[in-house]
Amino acid sequence: MKRIFTPYELAQLAKHTITDFDLEKISKGLGETFLDIPVEYITGFCEFRKHDFQVSRDTLIPRIETEEMIDIGLECAAGILEKNIDKKTIAFADIGTGSGIIGISFANELSEKGIITKGTLSDISPNALEIAKQNAKRILGEENDLAFLESNLLENFPVSKFDIVFANLPYIPSGNMKGLDSSVKDFEPVSALDGGPDGLDLVRKLLQQAPAFLNQDGIVILEVDDSHLDATEFLENFHVEIRKDQFGNNRFWILKLK
Ligand SMILES: C[S@@+](CC[C@H](N)C(=O)[O-])C[C@H]1O[C@@H](n2cnc3c(N)ncnc32)[C@H](O)[C@@H]1O
Repeated sequence: MKRIFTPYELAQLAKHTITDFDLEKISKGLGETFLDIPVEYITGFCEFRKHDFQVSRDTLIPRIETEEMIDIGLECAAGILEKNIDKKTIAFADIGTGSGIIGISFANELSEKGIITKGTLSDISPNALEIAKQNAKRILGEENDLAFLESNLLENFPVSKFDIVFANLPYIPSGNMKGLDSSVKDFEPVSALDGGPDGLDLVRKLLQQAPAFLNQDGIVILEVDDSHLDATEFLENFHVEIRKDQFGNNRFWILKLK
């Protein structure tokens, strides 16, 4: 069976100069599965905010709604700077950074506003972290100020305090994994998707660790599943604001220490 590409996919293939000859080679290597492979894994790139980010089968393909986390981060950073007029630098962490899209975009867009950041991007996957480092070099330059850390959540972090902690951790309830599209479940890393029985295993653990790593006005910005709206019983240390994404799903939690 021949794969029929959508106009968007054809544009991506053309942009990254993937020829029919390349496609034929890829399709032979991948057999049946070529029909469902996301175009981003063919080109090796995904657009996010203003840039093309390298992706691989070790990283999730960034989702469009995750772009909204950057806007939330910029808004929170502005609030923190307004409240602390002597403050010159925003210290942040991006936990489960994958291809690095959140941390790199946030640092880049704050720097365009003349604001200095000190960011640490972490992931449990060394292969994903390697892709994030490559993206930082390409987008921010060889001499960028980001640090990269292989860590299970905040376990390997040195003692430090952050103004903002971003985390888009795996949050799909395990029971929903089988029902995902083939393009997701057969190609994207399970370790980037499966969040345990209710999808919140990692979020719960992170929020136990996070208070020790937050400045007084520190904020945690999380991406979660719409089904998590009522699962806020473990948030006793935080004031919680929930924001919808562009599709109307309750997607982002903005958490401030009580
Ligand atoms: C949903 S993906 C998000 C990737 C990227 N931040 C994005 O928004 O596209 C989740 C990421 O969390 C990482 N991850 C999974 N378990 C982790 C853990 N215990 N500690 C740190 N990172 C973890 C995965 O390797 C994956 O890169």
